[in-house]
Amino acid sequence: MDTILVLDFGGQYNQLIARRIREQNVYAVIESFRDITVQKIIERGYSGIVMTGGPNSVNDPSSPHFDPALLDAGIPVLGICYGAQLMAYMAGGTVAEAGAEGEYGRTQLTVGEDELFSGIPESSICWMSHRDRITAVPRGFRITAFTPQCMCAAMSDASRKLYAVQFHPEVTHTRYGTQIFSNFLDICGCDRQWKMSRFAVDTVERYRRELAGKKVLMALSGGVDSSVTAALLGEAIGNDLTCVFVDHGLLRKNEASAVEEVFRPRLGSGLICVDAKERFLRELSGVTDPEKKRKIIGEQFIRVFEETSQSLGGSDLLAQGTIYPDVIESGKGDSAVIKSHHNVGGIPSDVRFSGIVEPLRDLFKDEVRKVGLELGLPGHIVNRQPFPGPGLAVRITGEVTEEKLDILREADAIFREEIDASGMTGSPDQYFAVLTDTSAVGVKGDSRLYGSVIALRAVTTDDFMTADWTRIPFEVLERTSVRITNSIPSVARVVYDITSKPPATVEWE
Ligand code: XMP
Repeated sequence: MDTILVLDFGGQYNQLIARRIREQNVYAVIESFRDITVQKIIERGYSGIVMTGGPNSVNDPSSPHFDPALLDAGIPVLGICYGAQLMAYMAGGTVAEAGAEGEYGRTQLTVGEDELFSGIPESSICWMSHRDRITAVPRGFRITAFTPQCMCAAMSDASRKLYAVQFHPEVTHTRYGTQIFSNFLDICGCDRQWKMSRFAVDTVERYRRELAGKKVLMALSGGVDSSVTAALLGEAIGNDLTCVFVDHGLLRKNEASAVEEVFRPRLGSGLICVDAKERFLRELSGVTDPEKKRKIIGEQFIRVFEETSQSLGGSDLLAQGTIYPDVIESGKGDSAVIKSHHNVGGIPSDVRFSGIVEPLRDLFKDEVRKVGLELGLPGHIVNRQPFPGPGLAVRITGEVTEEKLDILREADAIFREEIDASGMTGSPDQYFAVLTDTSAVGVKGDSRLYGSVIALRAVTTDDFMTADWTRIPFEVLERTSVRITNSIPSVARVVYDITSKPPATVEWE
């Protein structure tokens, strides 16, 4: 079977690269650059290699480097972002910092004649995220694409089948990214034979075997990921699974009752609801740093699960609905920590469970939804917009207090109602309100108000690794703003966040 090696240099989107390749029915494996040599690569007979992005600069001696012999091994190589810069560096070109002119987000790409760009129009949108850039291409290479800010957005040496792109073809916002991968797979001469096996069936089967006779406590938030995890494990181990829903006081308006309503009929006594509002608010009191907030919440979740487990006479394992973006953004291998997702980076080291079960750890959100549908979960659960485990705590910048939570819950409910009622086409994939720690002057009823600023956030994405801000009709924004400022006395201003990811993230903290 033809296999592509994704040589991992610590980029945020590495798993996406493997996925884009698998989507084209070619098998792809990811290996860290630390764990493999050119010799091994040749022995294993890979059909092609993709060198990934990464957070470093090739000019820093301590950054990841690789044996330049790779480029003469007779195997086609595609370098992406850091991988492109590393290819230039390995082949004798130069790379330099772009200074103040880093390029982040959507950019206009112009491509020239090249096998890698076969079938792609001369001008299209690509997604950039880089500080350094290639300033001189190595001997034997030629520049094959540019953007307004990047003279060398792509280069190739067709005689050695070496290709490099500064942008990210793996993210869906790069309009012709899939075509670029398809072209590379053609260059590699790959047969499109690999089919993704039926994940749900295989996983149920695997856990039925591995978890036989074990008691598992499942952290159920009612969101897509934990609901799908619960359904998978429920199929596998039935009554040995107990789901615990923790109300940490950081939930959206009416969320706790909605979760009970949906899951009680399905799980009966297999669902335990714990009211832990006071405990979480006490622990968060006075804390303003976003990472500290996330760590505290992660720890408190675990402590509540441990206590619940004890009250049930003990459980062997804790199950969580962790998905791949949670893992990478919490910092994996050589990747930078973007934020500690409560269920990964927020987990304390001394956990009183003998293990943690995370069946969805390698999947993206849209894949999780597919698994959910395959397991027979209803569409309204599978297609819910995500809600982060740390809840409204990461949507209140600064200290979390009861009073701020009340303001945010109201504003958020109004925004969601207005979007839902608008019936707008291309509805955002996630939309919510944020309570900022900025104050602004306003005037209400002839009096001066120095009040809060609410930011509205709505994004369009399919995997939450990258996202674009949604072009919401002005009338919907207007109705939302009027309702929020009229019905919440302390809000002076409403603003709309128009930042893509990258450079921003979806949540504010
Ligand atoms: P970011 O802010 O990282 O969000 O761009 C990407 C997606 O992940 C959700 N998110 C979380 N989900 N625990 C979760 O279960 C977390 O700690 C967490 N932080 C962010 C976010 O809502 C978005 O859908």
